[in-house]
Amino acid sequence: MAIISEHIKGEPHSKGKIVLGYSGGLDTSVLIPWLQEEGYDVVAAIAAVGQPADSDIEAIAAKAEQIGAVKSYILDLREEFAEINCVQAIYANSLYEGVYPLLSAISRPLIAKHLVRVAHAEDAVAIAHGCTGKGNDQVRFTLGIQALDPQLDVLGPLRYWELTTRSAELEFAASHNVPVRATKESPYSIDENVWGRAVECGVLEDPWNHVPEDAWAITVDPTQAPDEVTEVVISFEKGKPVAIDGKKMGMLQLVQTMNKVGGENGFGRIDTIEDRLVGLKSRECYEQPGALALIKAHQHLEKMCLPGEVLEQKAVLEHAWAKQVYNGLWYSPLKEAYDAFFASTQKTVTGEVRLSFYKGSCTVTGCKAPVAMYDFGLATYDEGDTFDRSAAAGFMTLYGLPNNTWAKKVGGWSSVDADKAKMAEVLSFASAVKAQQA
Ligand code: ARG
Repeated sequence: MAIISEHIKGEPHSKGKIVLGYSGGLDTSVLIPWLQEEGYDVVAAIAAVGQPADSDIEAIAAKAEQIGAVKSYILDLREEFAEINCVQAIYANSLYEGVYPLLSAISRPLIAKHLVRVAHAEDAVAIAHGCTGKGNDQVRFTLGIQALDPQLDVLGPLRYWELTTRSAELEFAASHNVPVRATKESPYSIDENVWGRAVECGVLEDPWNHVPEDAWAITVDPTQAPDEVTEVVISFEKGKPVAIDGKKMGMLQLVQTMNKVGGENGFGRIDTIEDRLVGLKSRECYEQPGALALIKAHQHLEKMCLPGEVLEQKAVLEHAWAKQVYNGLWYSPLKEAYDAFFASTQKTVTGEVRLSFYKGSCTVTGCKAPVAMYDFGLATYDEGDTFDRSAAAGFMTLYGLPNNTWAKKVGGWSSVDADKAKMAEVLSFASAVKAQQA
């Protein structure tokens, strides 16, 4: 790891090329001249994973070059993100701490992979990112890049640079010809991609505060959502969603469509307290209508298709997968092993799930699967029952054998007469009834 502080500002460019994950915002824009002063030639790489700014991506690349980047790369990762990372998250029914479907955590490894690709193409010596020193994203970039190429240095200058206040940053920007957007800055820290939108900071830092309506962008207020139920049928093939209402589509379009349907119905808002890897708790707000709806549908289809004991073990590994990915270990032997387990469970997870959206809720209202563990003949109490009731007696004899043996040896479960007073009451009631009848 290079020790940046040892180098003297203004030193001529001599350290080689550095690839900067560039967003066009103030931090990464200021990083361009800052890294130059540290002696690097900056190659800017802009990744599109489904942010609103994706549409301005060429302008963002031009801005990087105008500020001083020697070159810029536009990386459109949306298809790959949806097809690979979001699909893996669905197989894993991924919900960190049971609530957060992992939007930033699943995008960072993909961006890291492409930053490494650019670094190799450019013979760069290092990769820089604009993450703060308090969050999980720095860990995900650093560990991701190091796992993919342990030779590359990873720099996160926001951890230690001197531009700790906004005014210092603005001053640096002004003196280094970095254009600053005239538009008002968002009062929140936002990360957005195809899988959803994360909102932190500002008034949200007091967990008692209501989340202001302006924090939400892709979901409507549930009370303002339509008065009618919206039904959608999702088709899955081997665990992967492939169609909506019978219309086949790729994952990118499918997730975008589900974000729209869920968002319009006020579904997908999360307001939670989360445990960051770096040790602190933070209040996090997420909008993930598509992710939550698809995971819900997938989970339901798995209940239909998989044996209970597989579901039981899978749930344990799902929890572990989400933690592993949240904690920045996407490229790790353990995650690879989890994925292999999940892949083997998805072979029969094919079928259709009907979801009903209504004013902030999303409910499974139907499910069918060609190779289901659910068997109508076994389940029905009507015509066509194939369940062998006569086998139940023998089953209970053996299933209950250890417990019955114990009960016989100890003379019965002791709680039968534990509540003597209650029993006395019952007996006196019975004898009163008898006396009355006599
Ligand atoms: N807490 C979430 C996570 O660690 C979201 C992070 C969002 N990042 C941001 N820069 N606002 O995955």
